Amino acid sequence: MEQQLTAPQPERKKRIFSGIQPTGVMTLGNYLGAVRNWAQLQEDYDCTYCIVNMHAITVRQEPAKLRKNTLDAYALMLACGIDPEKSIAFIQSHVRTHAELAWVLNCYTQFGELSRMTQFKDKSAKHADNINAGLFDYPVLMAADILAYQADLVPVGIDQKQHLELARDIAIRFNNLHGNVFTVPEPYIPKAGAKIMSLQEPTKKMSKSDENVNAFITILDDEDTIIRKFKRAITDSEAEVVYREGKDGINNLMNIYSVITGKSYDDIAKEFEGKGYGDFKLAVGETVADALKPVRERFAALQADKSYLESCYRHGAEQALAISARTLDKVYKKIGFLQ
Ligand code: TYM
Repeated sequence: MEQQLTAPQPERKKRIFSGIQPTGVMTLGNYLGAVRNWAQLQEDYDCTYCIVNMHAITVRQEPAKLRKNTLDAYALMLACGIDPEKSIAFIQSHVRTHAELAWVLNCYTQFGELSRMTQFKDKSAKHADNINAGLFDYPVLMAADILAYQADLVPVGIDQKQHLELARDIAIRFNNLHGNVFTVPEPYIPKAGAKIMSLQEPTKKMSKSDENVNAFITILDDEDTIIRKFKRAITDSEAEVVYREGKDGINNLMNIYSVITGKSYDDIAKEFEGKGYGDFKLAVGETVADALKPVRERFAALQADKSYLESCYRHGAEQALAISARTLDKVYKKIGFLQ
């Protein structure tokens, strides 16, 4: 019998990449749809998480505010449980490979593909005075973020699914031309919480850029604010806490309550049988406030320790560069750039 000369290699952990924009305080939607899951995934995957400040400038930003928001977003990411000892946590503009790879991938992406992106259409309607090339090209930079790390999985909310599909198409197209250079990433969208809706217009997703502050919860809102916003949430004229088509407001609140408590919709309906919406909204508000309290406390502590934050994001950038530069080198070689 042939002798085995090398010990069997342990299966490598799958790689995860995801990012969030530093354009204001993270909402409950960002938290439940993405960042909360990022923290849970750290145990079983090799995770890389990024504050995408280069994406943020596709919409005009005030420089001093962007600088502050970027550091706050980084601190908030750690406050949500991303552990820089377990995961790579960095800031996009600190790692040059993202922009460099994006340029190459631009040449493998069609104008027509980018024109079909719904987020581009929405954002160009909203910022009609500034439909810049970066806004159009946004999904290619996102593809570069993901492909540079050879990510297997990308945990995002549903609104990023189309961008993810484009990243896959770009990877497959490049691989077909140049051999297996990129891992083709899969979206990792949670069953519950992937689309948290506005509290004021529950057919629209919850967004931090909403003009009505009552429409969204930020994860730094204090308990009173959270409870007040839930009390004002738009529901319907019935008085039955049950998940049903046409009850968008109640469905959204049940979704939020269910994601945080782990209770099923049936259990929630039973819990609030015979009670009015007032009791239900208060319970949702209190549950959300309790869940976010430790995040708020950790954030305050981290914000007070700028040198710790700096050491984390510097280290994260070094780790991120080491991995992504390997991919970029391979890409440059494959496409014929002189070494
Ligand atoms: P961003 O900053 O808009 O949102 C960050 C994450 O939060 C999710 N999300 C939501 N989930 C549920 N309900 C909501 N109402 C809600 N609003 C936002 C988003 O789906 C996202 O997962 N383009 C990305 C950032 C990015 C990125 C990447 C993501 C840049 N490069 C590479 C993954 C991989 C964005 O603008 O997310």
